[in-house]
Amino acid sequence: MDEQQLLNDITRNVQPLLDKGRVADYIPALARVNPRQFGMALATVEGEVCGAGDWQTRFSVQSVAKTFSLALALAADGERLWQRVGREPSGNPFNSLVQLEYEQGIPRNPFINAGALVVVDRLLTLTGDSWASVRDFLRSETGNDQIDFDGEIANSEASYGHRNAALAHFMASYGNLENPVGDVLRHYFQQCALSMNCAELAKAGLFLARHGIRADGSRLLSRSDAKRMNAVMLTCGTYDAAGEFAYRVGLPGKSGVGGGILAIVPGRYSLCVWSPGLDSHGNSVAGVEALDLFTTRTGLSVF
Ligand code: DON
Repeated sequence: MDEQQLLNDITRNVQPLLDKGRVADYIPALARVNPRQFGMALATVEGEVCGAGDWQTRFSVQSVAKTFSLALALAADGERLWQRVGREPSGNPFNSLVQLEYEQGIPRNPFINAGALVVVDRLLTLTGDSWASVRDFLRSETGNDQIDFDGEIANSEASYGHRNAALAHFMASYGNLENPVGDVLRHYFQQCALSMNCAELAKAGLFLARHGIRADGSRLLSRSDAKRMNAVMLTCGTYDAAGEFAYRVGLPGKSGVGGGILAIVPGRYSLCVWSPGLDSHGNSVAGVEALDLFTTRTGLSVF
């Protein structure tokens, strides 16, 4: 298959969608991004990368970062993590408070905000510095030591982070946080504010396509845990639109409100698409369409 040709083609095809979505505006620093951008990168399990459109432009990773903190927490903690967070689709918006009360402070899954806060809390306990462990992992998977968070976005998240603070305090009231709320939120906001491009994110996701094996050949996750992570991405990675994403794309995927989506073709590819215009669930309109086109044209989905 000529991957470069395919990516060029898909990039041309999604251009009419670039003014269809809405840029996330609940964090002022995100609201200023030009919506007419689209990038797509593909990394093979052998480590080759190609891309099209704005694939080398950095953007705010946001919730795509939840993939990496979950992988690191699972690698360090194994099954124990699942006592504090579930792995069922939420069917609710990613920042919902209501469900958490019904379920007594145990978040439905690690990809809604409450669940990601629990994961960050656990990683903070296990490593002493959750943010640094995510950053160092990404630097080593991409070979780029410049990867960091954008301070303006992290500050903006913190200033407007009342809902995340509410979720964290609520879980603390149920005894489901081990560290002070302020520390957990800081590490969470920093990982959300990571600035990366499609090529870097595609490389960083390769361990999931390689069944748990990192860029240096060492094992991060057992084959089973890599399968489980891909399953949780498929069922929960795009929030209350996970059913629609599975229907259209048929791959494990994790989206963020910066407009990025990481998608995995197990055993073959890690893909990253980015376009800032979002649908009502917080998923990139052109990004989902690009992945839909990719799996439709190649026949490569998990189904
Ligand atoms: O927690 C928040 O509000 C954001 N910083 C991250 C949310 C996000 O990307 C959800 N994804 N679609």
